[in-house]
Amino acid sequence: MEHLFSSYKLKGMEVKNRIVMSPMCQYSVEKKDGVATDWHYMHYVSRAIGGAGFIMIEMTDVEPDGRISDYDLGLWSDEQIPALARIVEACHRYGAKVGIQIAHAGRKAEDADVPVAPSAIPFDENSKTPRALSTDEVKELVEKFRMAVQRAVKAGFDAIEIHGAHGYLIHQFHSPLTNKREDEYGKDLTKFGREIIQAAKEEIPEDMPLMMRISAKEYVEGGYGINESIEFAKEYQKAGIDIFDISSGGEGPIAAWGKPGTHAAYQVPLARDIKQALNVPVIAVGRLDDPALANAVIGNEDADLVAVGRGMLRNPHWALEAAAKLKKETAVPKQYSTGF
Ligand SMILES: Cc1cc2nc3c(=O)[nH]c(=O)nc-3n(C[C@H](O)[C@H](O)[C@H](O)COP(=O)(O)O)c2cc1C
Repeated sequence: MEHLFSSYKLKGMEVKNRIVMSPMCQYSVEKKDGVATDWHYMHYVSRAIGGAGFIMIEMTDVEPDGRISDYDLGLWSDEQIPALARIVEACHRYGAKVGIQIAHAGRKAEDADVPVAPSAIPFDENSKTPRALSTDEVKELVEKFRMAVQRAVKAGFDAIEIHGAHGYLIHQFHSPLTNKREDEYGKDLTKFGREIIQAAKEEIPEDMPLMMRISAKEYVEGGYGINESIEFAKEYQKAGIDIFDISSGGEGPIAAWGKPGTHAAYQVPLARDIKQALNVPVIAVGRLDDPALANAVIGNEDADLVAVGRGMLRNPHWALEAAAKLKKETAVPKQYSTGF
């Protein structure tokens, strides 16, 4: 029977346990240059010391105006590689594997003078109206994703995650409410995402897992549901995604009927549905910071990996404490052994 501390192998990557540090923007770049700082180094390496098997570096963007804020990480320049490579190398020393979430915020780029999007539709009445990308610009963005992935491989990452969730650019393209284009990228809503996946596949080693985070359900009026997300996830799977990281929402103002759950494990049913429908590995996330519950998600085969976000903001040693609570073996750094 598998559990939270069973190892897991996906293509060439083996993780020591099923615990993922969920990607979380730190808005902590100092010079607006997209380069990781000492904060990022301490933040990620401390979770590696704290026993997480896999660490996902926060949303890292493919161009300066693709960031939510000017204080977000970027991978649009080779100069951004060394600081990330240093984090990867240190996390490896403490036994964690590391991935990076590659993204573009699209119409949610708050500091861009004029954000870009599939169509000129603002997020809500208080946000900037984005400019619709030309077809050539869409193709250029696919290449920017490719280059960011190429740099991530150079930095030594073990896996890449394409950010297709939370109302950011890829999500804006595959959602019928935000993509009203008449060109090839509007007639075929997953084309942009699929081309990014294909470009990424061309840049990563054969045995490196390619991950994708999706919002499996929208909460805006008229938004898509799980049946639609199963269909578009199939397209992404065919294009080369090895594992889906299942989240929800983020696409716009929440409809009165659609308040997302705030109870423990609220997104697990979505992860289980995608896993079963596609016969694909999935990561479950969302209020899974009770170790017994996270362990049950693995034991019940609802998901293959469990991501913890806010629980790890509170406690960098979440994984070590979970092992103690569940009475499972895990390597504790010798400096901390008396604490456990
Ligand atoms: C401060 C903060 C920043 C976040 N940034 C990102 C991000 O960069 N990319 C992403 O996909 N999700 C992001 N999220 C969502 C988390 O990865 C996670 O899915 C969410 O917090 C639910 O998990 P939890 O209940 O364990 O916190 C962020 C969440 C928080 C709290």
